[in-house]
Amino acid sequence: MFRTPGVPTGAHLADEAIVVRSAGPLSGEVHVPGAKNSVLKLMAATLLTDGRFELTNVPDIADVRIMAELLAAIGVTTETPEPGRLVLTDRGDLTPVAPYELVERIRASINVLGPLLTRCGHVRMSMPGGDDFGARPIDMHVAGLEAMGATFKFGHGEVEASADRLHGADITFDFPSVGATENLLTAAVYAHGITRIDNAAREPEIIDLCQFLVKMGAQIEGIGTSTLVITGVERGSLRAVSHSTVPDRIQAATYLAAVAVSGGRLTITGARADHMEMVLVRAREMGLVIEQAPGGITVEAPERLRSIDVATLPYPGIATDYKPLIITMLGVADGVGIVTENLYPGRFRYVEELQRLGADIRTNGHHAVVRGVPRLSGAPVRAHDIRAGAAMVVAGLAAEGVTTITGVHHIDRGYDDLVGRLRGVGADLERVSVG
Ligand code: EPU
Repeated sequence: MFRTPGVPTGAHLADEAIVVRSAGPLSGEVHVPGAKNSVLKLMAATLLTDGRFELTNVPDIADVRIMAELLAAIGVTTETPEPGRLVLTDRGDLTPVAPYELVERIRASINVLGPLLTRCGHVRMSMPGGDDFGARPIDMHVAGLEAMGATFKFGHGEVEASADRLHGADITFDFPSVGATENLLTAAVYAHGITRIDNAAREPEIIDLCQFLVKMGAQIEGIGTSTLVITGVERGSLRAVSHSTVPDRIQAATYLAAVAVSGGRLTITGARADHMEMVLVRAREMGLVIEQAPGGITVEAPERLRSIDVATLPYPGIATDYKPLIITMLGVADGVGIVTENLYPGRFRYVEELQRLGADIRTNGHHAVVRGVPRLSGAPVRAHDIRAGAAMVVAGLAAEGVTTITGVHHIDRGYDDLVGRLRGVGADLERVSVG
């Protein structure tokens, strides 16, 4: 069922579980919709100018509904004329205040900071929330905006930023932060003069945001590289546009992992091989046969996966969001694989859950040593965050017996009908009410 943005995402979802039974090889075609980590940023960027925006290839996920609620609180209304299409209307009457109840639920709420500050000259927001895998500071966002002339006040869990008009600046990041790149980019489009961001993040979702802004009339050079140069345009000179959201490479990798552990052959439509180069290289090293197909890729599983060592890195490296899936694949692969997390040291919480399913994994600091076993064994487990939750579902496919996953609301934040899509290619799983 498609839910309308604006309808509160409720506690009822917390009372559901996903029950997975191992079902043998998968086959057929599964479609991947637009990326959560792009659409949320596109939605926030509609705060830059008034008019009627239309986004297509929009995933039906809880985070889109939360972002729609946040935008509604600020003054942008959202409608869903049909599944996958979102119409956002910015009438220019904005209240640049982002309330705690919404901000604490998604990290991407920080993306309203840049657009609101550059357009309204002032913004007050709660410090953002998001997944529970360690501290996620916003110091780079703040330092960059300060270099552009903003002043900040912090207190009582809130951040308040002001700047009559931002000005261009040369900013070099210590680390290519996705969120900080996006905030500075959206702030710079109306800044006076030229902003240069060195060591910028260059994920496909950042390219998507740049292309959206350019359609709106922004001047951005270096799109897709680690140096972005933005020449500010006059406030109010951008226009509302229509745009199709880039496909979700993490959802695509989830179906890849599902067939990898189940066996069989899947066509994953919507998957962009050019956005997944490194993960596809590594998946081939594990024994998967991956080919381009019209509008997507085909993935064929080997008899048994081979272990490899993997380190997460900013794009074009292996994304940290793939890691729970890769660890799950290694959990049933032949040999020993060492996985190194370079982005979020605390992002190993789901390992305990995989151990409950019989996986042989040891963690030490930001490394995990995974010794593959032929088969996992079903048990009750919990989803601690979006990607870890999806990995639990994949692990359930690789487990003998029944795996019951609670904490399903985490999965719903980023996955558009994961259960239905997997059922469509032969997996045996269902959502059930609990309690
Ligand atoms: N960081 C700082 N200071 C900052 C900003 C970031 O220290 O000012 C650190 C973070 O604490 C973290 C690292 O830099 O250790 C990476 O943070 P980044 O800013 O690149 O990530 P993000 O924008 O907060 C996005 C995705 C995450 C994804 C990361 C890395 C969204 C909404 N979130 O987060 O996605 O893991 O990039 O690729 O786009 C998910 O979708 O499940 C998810 C967690």
